[in-house]
Amino acid sequence: MAVDYSIRDGVAVITLNNPPVNGLGLSTRTGIVEGVARAAQDPAITAIVITGAGKAFSGGADITEFNTPAALQEPSLDTVIKTVEQSTKPVVVAIHSVAMGGGLELALSAHYRIAAPGAQIALPEVKLGILPGAGGTQRLPRAIGLEAALNMIVSGAPVLSDKLATSGLFDAMAKSDLLDEAIAFARKAADKPGPHPLVRDRKIEHPNAEGFLQFSRNTVAAMSKNYPAPVKCVDAIAMGVKQGFDVGLAFERACFVELVQTPESHALRHAFFGERAASKIPDVPSGTAVREIAEVAVIGAGTMGGGIAMNFLNAGIPVTLLEMKQDALDRGLATIRKNYEVQLKKGKLTAEKLEARMALIRPTLSYDDLAKADLIIEAVFEELGVKEQVFKRLDEVAKAGAILASNTSTLDLNKIAAFTKRPQDVVGMHFFSPANVMKLLEVVRGKDTAKDVLATVMQLAKKIRKTAVVSGVCDGFIGNRMIEQYIRQALYMLEEGALPAQIDRAIEKFGFAMGPFRMSDLAGNDIGWAIRKRRYQEQPDLKYSQIADRLCESGRFGQKTGAGWYDYKPGERAALPSALVDDMILAYSNEAGITRRKIRDEEIVERLVYALVNEGAKILAEGIASKASDIDMVYLTGYGFPLWRGGPMFYADTVGLYNVARAIRGYAREANGDAWQIAPSLAALADEHGTFN
Ligand code: 3HC
Ligand code: NAI
Repeated sequence: MAVDYSIRDGVAVITLNNPPVNGLGLSTRTGIVEGVARAAQDPAITAIVITGAGKAFSGGADITEFNTPAALQEPSLDTVIKTVEQSTKPVVVAIHSVAMGGGLELALSAHYRIAAPGAQIALPEVKLGILPGAGGTQRLPRAIGLEAALNMIVSGAPVLSDKLATSGLFDAMAKSDLLDEAIAFARKAADKPGPHPLVRDRKIEHPNAEGFLQFSRNTVAAMSKNYPAPVKCVDAIAMGVKQGFDVGLAFERACFVELVQTPESHALRHAFFGERAASKIPDVPSGTAVREIAEVAVIGAGTMGGGIAMNFLNAGIPVTLLEMKQDALDRGLATIRKNYEVQLKKGKLTAEKLEARMALIRPTLSYDDLAKADLIIEAVFEELGVKEQVFKRLDEVAKAGAILASNTSTLDLNKIAAFTKRPQDVVGMHFFSPANVMKLLEVVRGKDTAKDVLATVMQLAKKIRKTAVVSGVCDGFIGNRMIEQYIRQALYMLEEGALPAQIDRAIEKFGFAMGPFRMSDLAGNDIGWAIRKRRYQEQPDLKYSQIADRLCESGRFGQKTGAGWYDYKPGERAALPSALVDDMILAYSNEAGITRRKIRDEEIVERLVYALVNEGAKILAEGIASKASDIDMVYLTGYGFPLWRGGPMFYADTVGLYNVARAIRGYAREANGDAWQIAPSLAALADEHGTFN
């Protein structure tokens, strides 16, 4: 049983004990109902306290149970809540650490609530594509008021218990020992005549509820176009306000049942578990001892080095920043300060914090100053010769056990590790630009990288709020290796009949944050050009449309040169279709003897997304990624793949691999078909009606 029952001073203490977060799975629900019944029958018991063991009061419904028979099995959460509400002996819920989702809904059904300071209180269901399904949309507005509740429910964001101390949610805040105080509170409550108060009986007071709800609905609808849940939250709240508690509750239930089946909810739950799964490496046990990282050094204060340093400064970790020349160092420092000043202007940072962060930087030109660093991240020019110089020097100065990381995006990490006499300490930390903003961190595992180095970096990634995904060594790692095939298709479609704006529009309509051409213009078209030049040497057989080379030959590198696939007005970022580029594309097709055809948006989306999927399948089969959800996390957090579609591999699963394989085989028979060699693993999964995830 996932619940403990004990008695103290005539009070029954029901303690949820279902690690890690006291999820309200079947056995926890059963335990609560039985505990309340046992207390009811025991004449020596005057009151009940419900609390949670370990690191949470409760993280809510057990998400792993969704869409399984256990989720529907009685006692349901609804039954648990009714049991608590109907208890004639007063029930006090003692909240600490976390009360989320069904956990908070359970608390709201009790007669009284007492909270420890610092507890995270939330109804985060929208983040999983659902709405609170156990009365949250009805009880929270009655507890803390319509506006505050609507904000919490629609955002899903946690609020600290301290901030809710006077909101009406809690009857008391614990001052020292939560359980002692909850028991004392319960004993006093038992002395009062019943019935004890229920949140459901409170009134919702608002001067203009109808106007507020209408306004909220419009705003929420506009802000959450591809997510059905937030608007349903508003509708459920509105139903309760207009038609009363019971009608609202029934409506909420119906919405929950509908939303939990939606593809958006499946995708969001996939992302929730995918994020957590990414931190687990199959052959690195979870208890692996980690190295202490108290001081970090970053080499190179350019675009990446500065952003990388900021991550650690934000987490309070001192950073030694090394450059070759004083002016480069000064420039790097000035950029970091400027970035913080932007945050200051936006009100996201105080002047005090800004200075505190800047004070954590120790700028230097000398490698001798790196001797104390526990982790050194190299972000110098992308040339193997330069990396060689740096890593040989690091090998001389770094202390034993220091982790040596490279931010290389294309070079062979094993070669870099071999420049040192300690390849076990070398790892790739591939940040994405801007490194202080982008969530993704590819952790590149070399052939000799030690397990504790990986475990340390994965743990550190959490501290600096990155989603870390382990990748094996290959050209481009997971993300860029896949994007190359996507770009390749985009370029082929240009020569076959599409124009940049059409391709971008089609894939942006699918949900990508940015289409391939706007993205290239932002990142710099010269980056891809450099990679292609290398490909032409290394893999002369690999066919590529030369259309992008022609663009680069004309100096159109993108936003930084004021012109790329699109035109840009000085100082503006809006991408304006370029007649010159369009003419260049038509001329290219003409010269190549290609009869241009109209390409449908559906084809554009299929070719771009399936190019990712096909390469992803190869990456999985080669063991570069250890699970399909890792690939999805790379694309969701680093490449703007639409979250509500769950990532390319998950999306392929939802389309059906049979259909994906059939489409790929079809494209393989058409122009530029040699780019479509179906991944054998994808073909096999399609045959056996399997899925990646
Ligand atoms: N159900 C099942 N497992 C859960 C869970 C839940 N509600 N919440 C967390 N877990 C699991 C995680 O998957 C993870 O498992 P793992 O160790 O095997 O990877 C483990 O608990 C620890 O999770 P975190 O790594 O996220 O731990 P943190 O301490 O960083 O955070 C937390 C704890 C704040 C509770 C965070 O896990 C969280 O936000 N959980 C989701 C909470 C949520 O969405 N609740 C609503 C559920 S839906 C609901 O209640 C429906 C109801 O309205 C009917
Ligand atoms: P950058 O040119 O902006 O910065 C490189 C910095 O390193 C310069 O300030 C230079 O003075 C300094 N430097 C060069 N050699 C040095 C040495 N021997 N010792 C100390 N400092 C030295 O380059 P950027 O874009 O920051 O790239 C750095 C690394 O990050 C490269 O390996 C690149 O492939 C990788 N990367 C770049 C991304 C991007 O979007 N720019 C994304 C992910 C990785």
